[in-house]
Amino acid sequence: MNAKSEQQKLSLSNIWVLAESNGPVRQEEMNICKAFMQICREDNNKDKLRAFFAENRGKPVLFEMKTERKDFRKFLFSGGETMSIQEGSFGDSGLGYSIWDAGLALSIWIQMNGDKFAGRDVLELGSGVGVTGICMAKSSANQVVLSDFGNVEDEGEDEGERNSVVERNLQPRNLLENLLTNVELNGLEEKCQVTRLDWHACLADSFRPVKEFQCVIGSDVIYYEEDAEALTAAIVKHLRAGGTFFLMNRRGRPGLSAVLENLERMGKVEVTELSLFNNFDSTPLLFATFTKG
Ligand SMILES: C[S@@+](CC[C@H](N)C(=O)[O-])C[C@H]1O[C@@H](n2cnc3c(N)ncnc32)[C@H](O)[C@@H]1O
Repeated sequence: MNAKSEQQKLSLSNIWVLAESNGPVRQEEMNICKAFMQICREDNNKDKLRAFFAENRGKPVLFEMKTERKDFRKFLFSGGETMSIQEGSFGDSGLGYSIWDAGLALSIWIQMNGDKFAGRDVLELGSGVGVTGICMAKSSANQVVLSDFGNVEDEGEDEGERNSVVERNLQPRNLLENLLTNVELNGLEEKCQVTRLDWHACLADSFRPVKEFQCVIGSDVIYYEEDAEALTAAIVKHLRAGGTFFLMNRRGRPGLSAVLENLERMGKVEVTELSLFNNFDSTPLLFATFTKG
C-alpha cells in the first residue's frame, strides 16, 4: 500500500494528551477523546469528524490513526491537521529510527502555540524521523531546518576526522535519507531543509553556524551525560541574542540537568513539568525554554 492510499484511511489506534505535571488528565481532555472515539466507532463519518475538530481546535490532544504498514504512522491534531511519518530501524537510523514520546508532546505544544513561531525560521536539533520539525513546518513558521547526524561518507571529511566521528557516535546510515522522505511525504519540500549537524562539531572554537536562529527546538535530545557540553554548544551557537530554545525531554534522563545548568549561565531558563498520556500509559516530561542573553 502506498503512502497516498494510507492517507485515505481514517480509523483510530491511539490518543495522546499533553497535561500539566503528573496529575490526572483533566476531564475536559478525556471527554474530547471519548467523543472522538465514539465518532470513529460509529461510522467514521467525515462530516461529523470535521465538525468535531472545528469544535476542539487548539486542544492539547493528538490522535494516531491505524495504518496498514507497521513502519508508517499517521497523526491527526485537534485542529484537523494531519502528519505522516515513516519510521526506520535501529540498525539504519540509530536512536532516531522512531518517534519518541517527547517528540509527540512537543508537536502538540507547537500546535497550540503556533503563533510564537509566525514568520520565524526555526532549527530543529536531533530531528530523528522529524516529527517535531514537520509539525513546526505545518504551523505558521517560515522555514524549518531539520538536523541530525549521519551519512558521514557524503560530507567530504578527511579519513581521520571521519573515523573518529564514527567511532564516537556510531553515526546512523539512513537517518537523514528517511528524514527527507518524511519531509516529502508531508509535501513540505518548499518549507523544510534537511541538514547534517553533529553537536560535537559545535564544540570547536572554529565552528561557525550556517545561520543564527530566533528559534531552536529539540525533543528528547539529551540522554547521555557525555553529550551535555556538545548539545549546549549546538544550542547556544545557533541562537541569536534574545532567541529562544524550546526543549521537551523525558524527565530524569542523564545529562538533562547538566544542559539546563549550562544554559542558566548564558541566559534565562524556565522549566515546567508535563506528562504525555496515551490510552494505556504516561510519560513524565520536562518542558524548558532558554532565552539567550
Ligand atoms: C531520542 S532521539 C529523539 C528524536 C526526535 N527528536 C524525537 O523526539 O522523536 C535523539 C536524536 O538525537 C540525535 N543525536 C544524538 N546525538 C547527536 C549528535 N551528536 N548530533 C546530532 N544529533 C544527535 C539522534 O540521532 C536522534 O535522532
